[in-house]
Amino acid sequence: MSNPLISTSALSKDFIVRERGHKSVVSAVRDVSLEIAAGETLGVVGESGSGKSTLGRCILGLETATSGTVTFDGTTLTGLSSRELHGHQRDMQIIFQDPYSSLNPRRTALQQVMEPLEVLTDRRDMRARALEALDRVGISAAQAERLPRSFSGGQRQRIAIARAIVVRPRFIVCDEPVSALDMSIQAQVTELLQELQRDLGLTYMFISHDLSVVREIATRTAVMYRGQLVEVGPTAALFASPKHAYTHRLLDAVLVPEPAVARERLANFGASVRSALDIPAEAQLVEVEPGHWVREG
Ligand SMILES: Nc1ncnc2c1ncn2[C@@H]1O[C@H](COP(=O)(O)OP(=O)(O)OP(=O)(O)O)[C@@H](O)[C@H]1O
Ligand SMILES: [Mg+2]
Repeated sequence: MSNPLISTSALSKDFIVRERGHKSVVSAVRDVSLEIAAGETLGVVGESGSGKSTLGRCILGLETATSGTVTFDGTTLTGLSSRELHGHQRDMQIIFQDPYSSLNPRRTALQQVMEPLEVLTDRRDMRARALEALDRVGISAAQAERLPRSFSGGQRQRIAIARAIVVRPRFIVCDEPVSALDMSIQAQVTELLQELQRDLGLTYMFISHDLSVVREIATRTAVMYRGQLVEVGPTAALFASPKHAYTHRLLDAVLVPEPAVARERLANFGASVRSALDIPAEAQLVEVEPGHWVREG
């Protein structure tokens, strides 16, 4: 990739977990090197606990990587002071799964969308920008003065999206942005995200359990297993002809038409595959077709 917007090099994150006097290390992200081109959507899939959220959080600097680097538009972010990092953090935002816990129940939609703009001094300008962001996501000026409790789940997620775009970011980590919503609302919010991407020139890392959504919207897809990338490639090629045994099983198990069945299968998927699949620590990612990388073993 010639000029990726985001690139990570050998990014790793270990958590030290203390339990009943015992200390253990959880390697949540292991040696992840990837690139995300400006304007694309990188889908990230994998079973629960495979490190998807931790990877996104490390890229945003919300989590300090144990080793490796993150580069944003040519600037290496890892190792910057928090003040230096602050300047870049507006460029990078996150949308979480749960629109109920990500909003403050005591502040109106408008107040919450204005919050990230608070460094701008002109209040009128802040208000106008916040209203514009809300309008873009389908929340009118009249609705903007309401508290979160008077909105539906889908509308709350729209407010959370307005909060993310109001600072005019270039990159957004969407961490299961539609998973908590009713099925009927999921498609609308997914469409909104795609529309915003086109209109605002955004780049997404789109983390999802829902492989059918990833297949639909991701330019490229990365598959994680136990903190590692096992396969990454153009979405169409990866879904049509998965190369890694793990990707095969994941698609076979989960790509079924009924969402409820898919969800249940994915929930039980980790246990069924874990004992059967051991990837040697030294296995490398190999480029099997242009831009399609698969871990050996
Ligand atoms: N703050 C933390 N402290 C200790 N361990 C953590 C912490 N955050 C994540 N982990 C562990 O790191 C691993 C990866 O977690 P992560 O949340 O990144 O997975 P995920 O792929 O996003 O899972 P899910 O699909 O359930 O959201 C898990 O084993 C998890 O328990
Ligand atoms: Mg997660």
